[in-house]
Amino acid sequence: MIPSPKLVIANWKSNLDWHSAKSWAEKFVSNKNQAHSYVVCPPFPLLGALQPWAGQDFVLGVQDLSPYESGAYTGAVSAGTLEGLRVEYALLGHSERRMYFGETNQTVAQKVELAFEHGITPVVCIDRDQAQAQAAALDGLTRAQRSSLIVAYEPMHAISTFGGQEDPIEVTIQAIQEIRNQLNPSAVLYGGSVGPKNAIAYLQSSEIDGLLVGAKSLDPVIFASL
Ligand code: PGA
Repeated sequence: MIPSPKLVIANWKSNLDWHSAKSWAEKFVSNKNQAHSYVVCPPFPLLGALQPWAGQDFVLGVQDLSPYESGAYTGAVSAGTLEGLRVEYALLGHSERRMYFGETNQTVAQKVELAFEHGITPVVCIDRDQAQAQAAALDGLTRAQRSSLIVAYEPMHAISTFGGQEDPIEVTIQAIQEIRNQLNPSAVLYGGSVGPKNAIAYLQSSEIDGLLVGAKSLDPVIFASL
């Protein structure tokens, strides 16, 4: 029995296009498991394609935000420009952002603050050894903000594109307990090579509030089956 409701987030990364996003949504809706709350984080332009389903069949999220409010920051998407697009969540500090785009704990903290200012719930992604420093960078959060902050524990070695080496579930749960104490968030999700074979074990744990799914979220039927 899965303690419900769990938050299950799709991270499409830089995949799909306008037409495949729409057919993804149609297939997902006809297959979805009603027990979870689903969030879909497409690339920015596809937020438009998913508007007909947003807030009803699933909730929309983004994969990043600008660390600046607005202004001359070419290419950056600030939280304020998302208004009207029904964006409710933002993945921030994903390991790919940290690794390929040089994102720091401090930048992530700036993004978290702006997300809150614009009514977007931040989902801060961290590995175990980053948690302490990320917690320090988030020290200025108010109690109210902390009580809606979400953290996704994603061990780098477990992410499918970085090797997909899964830890035993006891190790994952221990890391999650540690992270919960360090950051004191409202929920902790797990991510890293989650798919039909292992999702149930994570979802059954009362220590894990949901999942962040990359590769296996690209197939709507598989994602809906988790
Ligand atoms: P994965 O990606 O499920 O493909 O391992 C998870 C993530 O990077 O958020």
